[in-house]
Amino acid sequence: MSAPARRAVIVGTGSALPSRILSNADLENLVDTSDDWITTRTGIRERRIAADSEAMSDFATRAAEQALASAGVSAGDVDLLVCATVTPDMPIPSTACIIQHRLGAEHAAAFDLAAGCSGFLYGLAVAERFVTMPQYRHVLLIGAEVLSKYVDWRDRTTCILFGDGAGAVLLRAGEDPYGVLATTLRADGSLADYIMVPAGGTREPASTKTLEERRHYIKMKGNETFKMAVRSMEETSREALQMAGLTPADIDLFIPHQANRRIIDAVGSRLGLRDDQVYVNIERVGNTAAASIPVALDEAARRGLLKRGDVVLFTAFGTGLTWGSAVCRWGV
Ligand code: ACO
Repeated sequence: MSAPARRAVIVGTGSALPSRILSNADLENLVDTSDDWITTRTGIRERRIAADSEAMSDFATRAAEQALASAGVSAGDVDLLVCATVTPDMPIPSTACIIQHRLGAEHAAAFDLAAGCSGFLYGLAVAERFVTMPQYRHVLLIGAEVLSKYVDWRDRTTCILFGDGAGAVLLRAGEDPYGVLATTLRADGSLADYIMVPAGGTREPASTKTLEERRHYIKMKGNETFKMAVRSMEETSREALQMAGLTPADIDLFIPHQANRRIIDAVGSRLGLRDDQVYVNIERVGNTAAASIPVALDEAARRGLLKRGDVVLFTAFGTGLTWGSAVCRWGV
């Protein structure tokens, strides 16, 4: 008889959000918008915004410390640290290395991974491969963003959407049937201009002109993105379930990327899920990109919504464009 497959099991979760709350009423004082428009079109009522002195690694480090504590593992036992983000502390070096030092994870290799709102799922697929190798006993996967510093606070079509924060999971190899059962990842760079920050890289280095033209801020084709998001997330969700030998009827909890309440509802209803099977926190946190799924997962775990053996479906969609889904059987 062959040995059971080794799988990547999430053994700890953590999250950290800024203390400052920005409500829809606050936004009414910044741009021409209304609480009613934002709530109806997005489901967001408030979001957390970093202080001027706070950077992404501040939240990422706190979320990672929590994930380690919940797993009862010390930082010195982490072999790899992956930080999914598009809002690093600085362009060079990777923020993963800064977090590695702050945690005291002196034995861990560390790198950043940029896949926008799909970053956590891309990271999960990478972490899964590493952690099933004997030399990587513990992999710490963080999704963290401070999007507020890339938001144009004069642009009402984007500034209402985003929030800051971080979520983290600790993965360890375990045996079938628990752990990550399937992942599907996709990308379409022909649609890169749907969500982008045009300047500040090697194509358009920072200059007086780029600053004056506000090209260091997020530009988004919201409506086009919306339409693709629903279709793509449903498609990869079905594909991941099929790869795991499951159907939507097997899902205990669906944790989608929190981009827009209408997107979440549409994907949930296309998969035939009831409201109580779908985890939603967008009204409190907004769209936190790569942090979105791990923050929601940590909340769900701490609220006791997950029990050993539960089938959890994740799906996300974001800049790149990138999208994907993952299916796990909860193993703690
Ligand atoms: N307040 C009031 N009116 C507004 C606002 C606002 N904040 N923003 C836009 N409007 C207006 C528009 O100007 C437009 O007015 P017009 O009809 O007079 O031209 C009208 O509202 C409708 O605009 P739409 O863009 O068509 O509104 P839509 O229903 O598509 O909602 C939204 C916009 C919320 C952005 C939606 O398209 C969405 O959620 N898109 C997906 C975003 C997403 O998922 N991004 C991916 C992740 S981001 C990442 O990867 C980092």
